[in-house]
Amino acid sequence: MVTIDGPAGAGKSTVARLLADRLGWRFLDTGAMYRVVTLAALREGVDLEDAGALDRLAAGLDASFPPGLALLGGEDVSAAIRDVAVTRFSRFIADCAPVRARLVGWQRAFAESDDVVTEGRDQGTIVFPDAYRKFFVTASDHERARRRHRELVARGQDATLEAVLADQRARDARDAGRAIAPMRAADDAETVDTTGLSIEDVVELLHRKVRPAP
Ligand code: C5P
Repeated sequence: MVTIDGPAGAGKSTVARLLADRLGWRFLDTGAMYRVVTLAALREGVDLEDAGALDRLAAGLDASFPPGLALLGGEDVSAAIRDVAVTRFSRFIADCAPVRARLVGWQRAFAESDDVVTEGRDQGTIVFPDAYRKFFVTASDHERARRRHRELVARGQDATLEAVLADQRARDARDAGRAIAPMRAADDAETVDTTGLSIEDVVELLHRKVRPAP
């Protein structure tokens, strides 16, 4: 088990997916779980401040996460969960204690039988405290916002760099300041600053740390 935590837009998902491919391990994108519950809540019109209602919704969800995909009731929602609105409202789900506990259960079940590279905010601290290697991957907030903005534009979404940066700062502050499972580096995690590095450089760097050359 390798955990990769860190703030929004640090490239964690891509790095974790490529690292998992290279190791021949499975990849778990825990943000996708929070996003799927957010999307379902928005679609069903569930009150985002009602923890009981959110947990009932999550309990009844038919969600699955085959490699690179997110499925909700069999529908491929991989693109829909990256929507600006889903990103913005995901904080209600992230702050909801019973839903968090349920998603931690999904995450541990996913990792039960295989070696996994997992990424999120609380993977090294809360979900997998005994992981073999833990990384906290970050980059300057301007670089992270530029990357996320490029991604959104490539997907045809309408967003300014300033708005992406403002949303990202608000999300980072909330993720780090949350009462339960705040985003932080585990005491035994290694922090990797990816500012100025390509995705390939970061994957190579982490791979060398997980599998040092003999
Ligand atoms: O990583 P991603 O941007 O897809 O995550 C969406 C949101 O889900 C984050 O802003 C965070 O609030 C929440 N999240 C979380 N814990 C995780 C993964 C994501 O609280 N392990």
